[in-house]
Amino acid sequence: MLRIGPYTLPNPFILAPMAGVSEQPFRVLAFELGAALCPTELVSSQGLMRINQRTLRYLRFDARVERPYSLQLYGGDPEAMVRAALIGQEHGAQIIDINMGCPVKKVTKNGAGSALLCDPPRAATLVREIRAATGLPVTAKIRSGWDEHSRNYLQVAELLQAAGCAALAVHPRTRAQGYSGQADWSVLADLKRHFPELPLIGNGDVKTPADARRMQETTGCDFVMIGRAALGNPWVFRELLGGPAPTPEERCVLVLRHFAAHLEFTGDALAAVRSFRKHLAWYAHGLRGAAAFRAEANQLDSPEAVRDALHRFFRAASADPHAPSEEQDVDYRAALG
Ligand SMILES: Cc1cc2nc3c(=O)[nH]c(=O)nc-3n(C[C@H](O)[C@H](O)[C@H](O)COP(=O)(O)O)c2cc1C
Repeated sequence: MLRIGPYTLPNPFILAPMAGVSEQPFRVLAFELGAALCPTELVSSQGLMRINQRTLRYLRFDARVERPYSLQLYGGDPEAMVRAALIGQEHGAQIIDINMGCPVKKVTKNGAGSALLCDPPRAATLVREIRAATGLPVTAKIRSGWDEHSRNYLQVAELLQAAGCAALAVHPRTRAQGYSGQADWSVLADLKRHFPELPLIGNGDVKTPADARRMQETTGCDFVMIGRAALGNPWVFRELLGGPAPTPEERCVLVLRHFAAHLEFTGDALAAVRSFRKHLAWYAHGLRGAAAFRAEANQLDSPEAVRDALHRFFRAASADPHAPSEEQDVDYRAALG
């Protein structure tokens, strides 16, 4: 059953929350291309409580397309998290997702993100209190544990389920692993066996539609969440639903749309050009001339220059859409901060 709280989703494919990526403009594209749910990137509960204008910007969403709208919050203090969730609800949030997986020190040192895995009762308190205060479905996103000595995902899931968690997203690496090695999908199968009633969102290393099918078949997870494979490739959701890969012309049109929305979202032309460079590099992935385009993209300093470079790059790429890929993997490290 594709249900999260009161919402029935049209398919099992979810865009992963990604800082600096899962902003309103990119989420809208992913929804339009078929993603069933696109949570926001992690938003600071402290920032929301202080009505920090920069933080409030993260709450902007497109109510026509983003349904249901899931807001991911991070924080360790239940009172602050409840207040932030209420502010999110006032701004339209329909699901509150709690980040319990972020490995970054700035986040964990305040007892938030993956540090919550070290204190499962507090993690459960967050779910219970946010649910009680907002009446919204509350989901959580965890890793398999803090490190190899404390892979306590079963204990965490048990307490979260008892607290009324509406769905659990699991990236089965420990905090200590960061992004190294392979996601351990056996964790997902183990969770589904122990908690068959808890909607499970499997995540980690899904790169192709075949991977997504394999994850569903081998683990029994209800949903599949895709992160890095969607960077520069929101069409992955269309392909997951049996649709075609994009042509270079189609890529060009969509990148220009993404850029226009990003400019408007950012509100400052130079800042927008700079923060869009990583997207340009990802969109060029695998096309002829990608390396030279990336080098050029890092020098671009006006919206006109970005649009010109995009037209030139995709025109050349159109001439030879099957040119061999110049690189193996999308480089996402720049976005990890
Ligand atoms: C650039 C980047 C930013 C991320 N930001 C967040 C975040 O804000 N919240 C979160 O829960 N996970 C975040 N993650 C983790 C992803 O949601 C996901 O769990 C992870 O990338 C594994 O999935 P994948 O193998 O499909 O990429 C981030 C990952 C990347 C690559």
